Amino acid sequence: MFNTSYIEISRKAYRSNIRYLKGIIGKDAKFSSVIKGNAYGHGVDNIVPLAEEAGINHFSVFSAKEAYDALDVMSPGSQIMIMGLLDDAEIEWAIWNDVEFFVFDFSRLQQAIETSKRLNKKARIHIEVETGFNRTGFVYDELKTLMAFLKKNSEYFIFKGLCTHYAGAESLSNYLRIKNQIALFRKINRYFSRHAITPEIKHTACSAAALTYPNTIMDMVRFGIAQYGFWPSPETQMFRFRKETGNESPLRRMISWKSKVMVIKKVKAGEFIGYGSSYLANKNMKIAVIPVGYANGFSRALSNTGRVLIRGRRVPVIGTVTMNTMTVNITDIPGVERGDEVVIIGKQKRLSIGISSFCEMSDQLNYQLLTRLPADIPRFIVA
Ligand SMILES: Cc1ncc(COP(=O)(O)O)c(C=O)c1O
Repeated sequence: MFNTSYIEISRKAYRSNIRYLKGIIGKDAKFSSVIKGNAYGHGVDNIVPLAEEAGINHFSVFSAKEAYDALDVMSPGSQIMIMGLLDDAEIEWAIWNDVEFFVFDFSRLQQAIETSKRLNKKARIHIEVETGFNRTGFVYDELKTLMAFLKKNSEYFIFKGLCTHYAGAESLSNYLRIKNQIALFRKINRYFSRHAITPEIKHTACSAAALTYPNTIMDMVRFGIAQYGFWPSPETQMFRFRKETGNESPLRRMISWKSKVMVIKKVKAGEFIGYGSSYLANKNMKIAVIPVGYANGFSRALSNTGRVLIRGRRVPVIGTVTMNTMTVNITDIPGVERGDEVVIIGKQKRLSIGISSFCEMSDQLNYQLLTRLPADIPRFIVA
């Protein structure tokens, strides 16, 4: 009620993804569930309990705001880690609430230490080092000063982790760059050991790195896209298929997106359908209007190219996708009625629409499409 579409999240698919990924990283490595971007569009309030049910108690987010929202639904034993934005005022909140956070420059480090002194409470920090991604992280030349600073202030922080992030482990074209990053991370880690400053854990891998470069797994993996049942890239999928037998993908999409037919109407041959002149009816046609448009996350780029499922048949989007609606061609599908289920992503009878075909048609990454699904579409967990 009161919604034009809804999303179903499959508990069974999630469990199966986690089982597969845990099998890859082994018993000794921790699983951090990356839930930034509203848990890649799946909804933080759905994914946190599902992950906890599956034995995961570490979560990674980008910002303090995301950590704040996640804390609302996390169980007391679970831990949250901020990998990106945290301004000075938020550092106090993070330390006070035992939130772990990345420290990648001296100003944040200084701020963390000063706040810890003031609160008389240790900051839980992960030192991020720059190994070649060139986004955030201490560079090698800063390590000497960093060591001195850390030693001098050791009573004000818990050194939770030493970490880095790879520059595109999902693509073979970055192979050399990733290898160099792994080597530099090892060198930096040795530097820390020589100075007797030891992190509780070392972590570097995202989904693609863990799936294709086993030596990046270390003590923890920050799994984003793969836990939601998507391969980071076709290359990653091919790499795993080379290693594993069978034709079934071990990762299963857990999201389905559904709506219903709002209006059915007939259009005479020679009439344009929708805004402008992008679709001309070349025969008498029957069309259905679906109450999902680009404001709801269905890209305008899918005008005249997208597909949905109705009555177990694949039907094409015709005309331009508008802010709140799309129109589909049901001329050859008998019996369609107002209120019929429309599957935008997911399965209906024997047919299925995945995210990848969707992304190819609208030239989006699966990451993009998922995180752009508006938070106000209701999400339900199904078996
Ligand atoms: C620092 C960091 N770690 C881990 C991840 C998770 O990546 P993926 O979704 O490819 O597993 C991200 C995502 O962008 C990230 O920025």
